[in-house]
Amino acid sequence: MRILVTGAAGFIGSNFVHLTLATRPEAQVTVLDALTYAGALASLDGVLDRIDFVQGDVADAALVDRLVAATDLVVHFAAESHNDNSLTDPRPFVQTNLVGTYNLIEAARHHRVRYHHISTDEVYGDLELDDPKRFTEDTPYNPSSPYSATKAGSDLLVRAWVRSFDLQATISNCSNNYGPRQHVEKFIPRQITNVIDGVRPKLYGEGLNVRDWIHVDDHNTAVWTIIDTGRIGETYLIGADGEVNNTDVIRLILELMGRSPEGYDHVTDRAGHDLRYAIDAGRLRTELGWTPHYRNFREGLQATIDWYVANEAWWRPMKDATEAKYAATQSVVAR
Ligand code: NAD
Ligand code: TYD
Repeated sequence: MRILVTGAAGFIGSNFVHLTLATRPEAQVTVLDALTYAGALASLDGVLDRIDFVQGDVADAALVDRLVAATDLVVHFAAESHNDNSLTDPRPFVQTNLVGTYNLIEAARHHRVRYHHISTDEVYGDLELDDPKRFTEDTPYNPSSPYSATKAGSDLLVRAWVRSFDLQATISNCSNNYGPRQHVEKFIPRQITNVIDGVRPKLYGEGLNVRDWIHVDDHNTAVWTIIDTGRIGETYLIGADGEVNNTDVIRLILELMGRSPEGYDHVTDRAGHDLRYAIDAGRLRTELGWTPHYRNFREGLQATIDWYVANEAWWRPMKDATEAKYAATQSVVAR
C-alpha cells in the first residue's frame, strides 16, 4: 500500500512512520513536510532511506494534487499545533490547518483516495473540573483558541466533503500526547529539558488544568485501527483514561528526575486557558476493539524522560529559541 503522511517530521507523524514501517514493512511511505520550526528531519533518523521525503507545503495545491494522485491513502498530521503560538500569531494556523486540509481533501476526492484526518479533542472546548461528563463524538464543537478553532474548521470541512462529495474519509480526535520526539515548546518536554538544564519547570496559572494524557504510540495504533476497520464518514475519539492535572505532572517529573517536587515556578497563565479535557473513547473501544498499551502514566513518563536524557542532540537545537519566545510573553508570578 502507498501511503502519503503529512507532517511526519513532527512529533506524532514521525512516530506514526516509525510504527508503520516496524509493523507493516510492505508499506510504501511518502512524507510531505514543510520543515517549519516544528519539523526535524532527525525525527525520521533510521527510516529516511526507506521513505520518500518531500519538503513542501500542504498549502501548495499543485504539489498536494500531484502527491495525492500517486497514493492509496492519505494520513494528514501536518498542522500548526501549539496553542501559545496561535495566540501570538494566528495567521499560519489559518493557512496550514484550513487551507492545507482543503487542498488535501480536494485532491483526495478528485483522485478517489482514502483519507484519514488527524484532529484534537480541543475542538470540543473544555469541561469543569467536577463535571462527570467526558467528551464523546456527540459533544458540540466549542473551540477556545485560534489553534482549536482552525482544527475544528478543518474537521468540519472533512465532514462536509464526506456528505457532499462522498469523500472516503475518517476523522480521529485525540487527547494530549506524550512520548519521544515531541517539540520542547510543549508542556512535558519543556519541563523535562528545563530540569536537565537546571532550570525550574514553569507552571501556567494555578496549575489546576487537567489534560487526558495518552502515549503517542497508543494514539497511532488507534489511528491504524480506524483506518483498517473504521466506518467511512465516522469520527472516533481517542483517549486512554489518563486525566492528570498540570501540578501533578510537574511534581511527578521532578520526583522521577530526582529533584524536590516543590522546585517549580508559577508563570503567567495562558489567555483563554482551557480548564479540562477528558475523553470517552467508548466507540473506539467497543466498536473497533482498540485498547491502549501504556496504562501506567508514571512508567510512560519515566520512559519519556529517559528518551530526552539520551537524545539531547535531538532537542538541543530547538531549546534556546523556544525559551526566548516564552521569555517574551511569560514571567514568574510570586505565590
Ligand atoms: P508538531 O507541531 O510536532 O508537527 C507538525 C509537523 O507539521 C511539523 O513537522 C511541521 O514541519 C509540519 N508542518 C507544519 N506546517 C506545515 C505545512 N504548511 N505543510 C507541511 N508540513 C507542515 O505537531 P504534532 O504534535 O505532531 O501534531 C500532529 C497532529 O496531531 C496535528 O494535526 C495536531 O492537531 C494533532 N494532535 C496533536 C496532539 C498533541 O498532543 N500533540 C493531540 C491531538 C491531536
Ligand atoms: P500544551 O503541551 O501546550 O498542550 P495543550 O495546550 O494542547 O493542552 O500544554 C499542556 C498543559 O500544560 C496546558 O494546560 C498548558 C500547560 N503548560 C504549562 O503549565 N507550562 C508550560 O510551560 C506549557 C508549555 C504548558
